[in-house]
Amino acid sequence: MAQKQPRFTDIHSHFLFSVDDGSKNKLESLNMLQQAVEQNVTYLLATPHATDLTTEAVSERFLDHYKELQNLIAEENIAIKIALASELYFNPHIYDWIKYPWATFNNNRKYLLFELPLFEMPKEVKDFIFQCKLEGITPILAHPERYSYMNNNIEVLFDWYHQGCLMQINAGSVTGQFGSRAEKLALKLLQARLAHFVASDAHETEYRNYKQLPLAKEALSGQLPADYVDALFSVNPQKALDGLIIETDEPDERLIESSWFSYQGILNKINKVFHL
Ligand SMILES: [Fe+2]
Repeated sequence: MAQKQPRFTDIHSHFLFSVDDGSKNKLESLNMLQQAVEQNVTYLLATPHATDLTTEAVSERFLDHYKELQNLIAEENIAIKIALASELYFNPHIYDWIKYPWATFNNNRKYLLFELPLFEMPKEVKDFIFQCKLEGITPILAHPERYSYMNNNIEVLFDWYHQGCLMQINAGSVTGQFGSRAEKLALKLLQARLAHFVASDAHETEYRNYKQLPLAKEALSGQLPADYVDALFSVNPQKALDGLIIETDEPDERLIESSWFSYQGILNKINKVFHL
């Protein structure tokens, strides 16, 4: 009997053209979409970087280019479904998403994707998660394993999870594209069940591409239970796009202990005890 091909629903990639460091033009977007289909991705969420959503012009450009791609998919008869959201960069403008519901997944006002600065952890993440939850929105943190400061701050990820934030790992981190530090941290978070999605974060077709999805799935299949792997690559992403509740396992908090032995880990614990 032929083996069933895994299908992917991808909640993070940059195939919208001429809006960020992803696709440069319509032709590149077309190539990316075709590659996604070849990798058995059936539903793709556009998540262009959004550092400043304060002007209508920015919003309109995202929406126009998205519409153009929808037309292109129909014209070229590409077998893929797309939706629009954004990868919101954590700065004071992040609260502006409220004005633009399209910045949430598929306009559903239930899920949004956000990223942090790569080298310095902002202090106000807790407040942001709190505000999202007040609005009935579940924030999803993009690629926690890529932030170098997270190795010594894993406990904040548990805190954010308990506040209602979910975590998305990059497929390329699992396949080693971002180095061994990110690869190890990604695995650690997955083993602790502190990860809820694996997404491509594809930017082009050559390297940071959709091929990473099946490669990552294959790599994880031997190490994690099959139903958890399905949840990461298909079930949870689909639920997020549909605005449905995602059930999660209680993460294994013993992971926190590893950071007790670092200087930053001890400082974090002291801060927590004294509510600093
Ligand atoms: Fe991204």
